[in-house]
Amino acid sequence: MTSSLTGAEAWSLLTLSAACVGIIINTFHGDGEPLIASLAFSGIAFAFTFSLIRWLGDTFMKAGLKGRDMSKLKKVEIPETMGAICAVVYLLTIIVFIPFPFYKDIVAATSGGGNREFVLERQYVETGRILHRFPHSKLASYLSAILSLQSVVLLGIGDDLFDIRWRHKLFIPAFAAIPMLVVYFVDYGVTNVVVPVQLEPYLGTMVNLGWLYYAYMAAIAIFCPNSINILAGINGIEVSQSIVIGFLLLANDILSLYAAPSSPSPHPATDPHLFSMYLLLPFIGVSIALWWHNWYPAKVFVGDTYCYFAGMVFAIVGILGHFSKTLLLLFIPQIINFIYSAPQLFRLIPCPRHRLPRFNPRTGLLEPSMTQWQKPPSRPVAFLLKLLAGFPLPLIRLEKNGKGEIVESTNLTILNLWLVWFGPRREDRLAIELLVMQAFCGVLGLFVRHELALWVFRQDNRG
Ligand code: UD1
Ligand code: MG
Repeated sequence: MTSSLTGAEAWSLLTLSAACVGIIINTFHGDGEPLIASLAFSGIAFAFTFSLIRWLGDTFMKAGLKGRDMSKLKKVEIPETMGAICAVVYLLTIIVFIPFPFYKDIVAATSGGGNREFVLERQYVETGRILHRFPHSKLASYLSAILSLQSVVLLGIGDDLFDIRWRHKLFIPAFAAIPMLVVYFVDYGVTNVVVPVQLEPYLGTMVNLGWLYYAYMAAIAIFCPNSINILAGINGIEVSQSIVIGFLLLANDILSLYAAPSSPSPHPATDPHLFSMYLLLPFIGVSIALWWHNWYPAKVFVGDTYCYFAGMVFAIVGILGHFSKTLLLLFIPQIINFIYSAPQLFRLIPCPRHRLPRFNPRTGLLEPSMTQWQKPPSRPVAFLLKLLAGFPLPLIRLEKNGKGEIVESTNLTILNLWLVWFGPRREDRLAIELLVMQAFCGVLGLFVRHELALWVFRQDNRG
């Protein structure tokens, strides 16, 4: 990879950055327009990430952070762990952004005093003074998001350096989630879930899950990063799936903000959705810069750092934005891939170090990769596998020896399953097809959430 920017690229990035700086300076009026500032910051974050990936690629290779692209004729080595650049630029961006959402509270309303009153309108004077207080709780949730993300990025970089065992790294995001869960507890503390209308006669309208709700949120923090990391192995798929989820979450925020009734006092659902947009916009900015270099044919790899970082951004947005169930609706392909992978993850079926599709050098196409059975599976397992392989749309493909014993079976990822169903295809085509499927599932999920929710729930939390 050329390690410098071309003239045209340098000029475009410079122009973009200058325009974004101009926009940010212009937002210091009135309420500060944090959303526009966030958009401009995302542009700058994109330009920085793009340039740094180019400049630091060789440095990363020298430090040993490199990987072999296994699905190419020439298995060249390219820089890995480029997600670390995204994560660092992202963290710095949202740190610099801290004053912006609070500009109104710091400058316009409280003049830096935190609770100095603003000029009161007459109708309020009649009924007593209302002090405008600085929203410390909002700041706390923003800061806890940064803290949780930083911890998980540390884990990601550690994993890229030392290849931490799967069973060890699985639970680390749960620890990283503690700052955010504490803020949730102090600030919001709702552990009730609304019961679907159909189950109300048995359970009542609400069920209090208590501490189980915290376990559920910790599980989300574990699931999101890991599920992105195991839906991987072809160029571009990790970043692209994250960008798709990022845009779907943005759409969800916009739909929710749009639906919130306009009233003098802001609707309670407004703030979490704005908060979520402030975190998502720069995420999409840094991810597009990475995508540019990681799409087929990849010039860099994202590394586990990116997968953990991306997953944690989604977990944080979902938990602190109070829409974790909607979040899961946008993770349907990842959930299916996780469940489908479970037999290999829990070693019921042998799990090789890599499960990515196999590159056939003769055709240049990807084929399902196989895992070898050292000794044939036990009778019941063999029976089950043959049953799954016998479906009209088989869930697994088996290779048998002369005696009819299973010696090989396909690795259980939806990438391989797609190849079993639709036949060998080129790497980028496989990625595009999976992304279209993912986007379709996501849009369906949003439709269910925003249009059909009233079939199951008495009230939409927008209303
Ligand atoms: C996860 C998967 C593993 C898959 C790997 C690929 C599980 C339990 N683990 O492991 O099966 O093989 O991701 O990312 O499902 N690579 C390519 N082309 C790509 C992307 C990656 O050849 O487009 C190879 C490169 O050699 C790269 C390596 O995969 O160096 C990165 O693998 P890593 O992310 O460390 O694997 P895991 O996340 O542990
Ligand atoms: Mg990985």
